[in-house]
Amino acid sequence: MRMIDLIERKKRGGALSEKEIRYFIKGFTSGEIPDYQAAALLMAICFMGMTDQEIAWMTDAMACSGDRVDLSSIPGIKVDKHSTGGIGDKTTLILAPLVAACGVPVAKMSGRGLGYTGGTVDKLEAIPGFCTEMDQEAFLETVKKIGVCVVGQSGNLAPADKKLYALRDVTATVDSIPLIAASVMSKKIAAGADAIVLDVKCGSGAFMKTAQDASHLAREMVAIGRACGRRMAAVITNMDVPLGHCIGNGLEVAEAIAVLKGEGPDDLREVCLALASQMLSLARKGSPEDCRTMAKKALDSGAALEKFRQMCIAQKGDHTILERPQSLYEKAAVYELAAPQDGWIRQMDAEACGRASMLLGAGRETKDSAIDPAAGIVLCRKTGEAVRKGEVLARLYTNHPDRLEQARRILLESYAFAAEKPDDIPLIYDVILEK
Ligand code: URA
Repeated sequence: MRMIDLIERKKRGGALSEKEIRYFIKGFTSGEIPDYQAAALLMAICFMGMTDQEIAWMTDAMACSGDRVDLSSIPGIKVDKHSTGGIGDKTTLILAPLVAACGVPVAKMSGRGLGYTGGTVDKLEAIPGFCTEMDQEAFLETVKKIGVCVVGQSGNLAPADKKLYALRDVTATVDSIPLIAASVMSKKIAAGADAIVLDVKCGSGAFMKTAQDASHLAREMVAIGRACGRRMAAVITNMDVPLGHCIGNGLEVAEAIAVLKGEGPDDLREVCLALASQMLSLARKGSPEDCRTMAKKALDSGAALEKFRQMCIAQKGDHTILERPQSLYEKAAVYELAAPQDGWIRQMDAEACGRASMLLGAGRETKDSAIDPAAGIVLCRKTGEAVRKGEVLARLYTNHPDRLEQARRILLESYAFAAEKPDDIPLIYDVILEK
């Protein structure tokens, strides 16, 4: 088999066979197929797409490229969730203890940051002492004991995806629906859960900019999961506006704690309830409506917060942050961004907010940059709200005052103002359930 023939066929819009796809994934992972040929094939896929069957074969080949997690020793239906990534997305910090508090085990492997902001692992590590590296046995034991554990993805889970993603990142081939679907689902399948809920983000701060593309991606991933024997649901949520008010690792943990205390911003609570109701329902706890009521009770009664405390203790994190969440960000200096005019906030560029937050120290500029857990942004006003000139639009937290002006400029440019109140935008566009 020759790689050039595969590239040639895909370039002309043809389909690859199962053998050819497995040859590509195996050869690229082992280093036999060079990056330039892999990049050419990826670019051809970006332009010409893949059939559902090709995507399913590619997902399976990537899922089989490394270790697979066996969760069968944990009783019950194990549920996982995955977000396609957005600014201010701290839902895993809330959902993992929330769903566990409702009696459904959550054994979750999460990633570090992709793009501008930290990932779940970076956020958890903002909690002093919190350990996200555990061997398999300790991970399983923790879930059996307290019902929840969130750790970093092991180095050998879907290594084909790791290598391929690094290449896609530098060859402008990330935003292809077939490639994203295979990438996400290969990791989810290898991570071993019985049921998976996908949070597919849609808008200026997401890979999918339109509801139509988000729906296409969601349906593709639900179909792959079903074909692999998993129970699946996908929720399409808004990412034109950052989720919640906080962007940045320590700030986001503090905001997640507020939601776990039954407080916090409405949009974040609402997205968490929508995802939790699907997770609990896939675990056969009842209809999505009954499960939503169950999740609400767990937030308002303190049961989810208590589960988060148990998770912190089991993973060696400082649980006193539950009483003093401000300790997570008080080491940074705080600066204000004032509204330049009276008016309504017509729209925001969520991605620009992420970029500004990264500049302040909350994300990685390069793969090896260090993250400052105290850095980030609190958005005091968001799309759909009115402001008066001089009122505080946002607070910027940083230990890099030299980067402040640039971050302030990017953040200010991310706001667009109007004289009239803008139309409301939906927070949840759609829920896609397995057939
Ligand atoms: N998240 C992933 O895990 N993979 C992609 O390709 C895009 C987002």
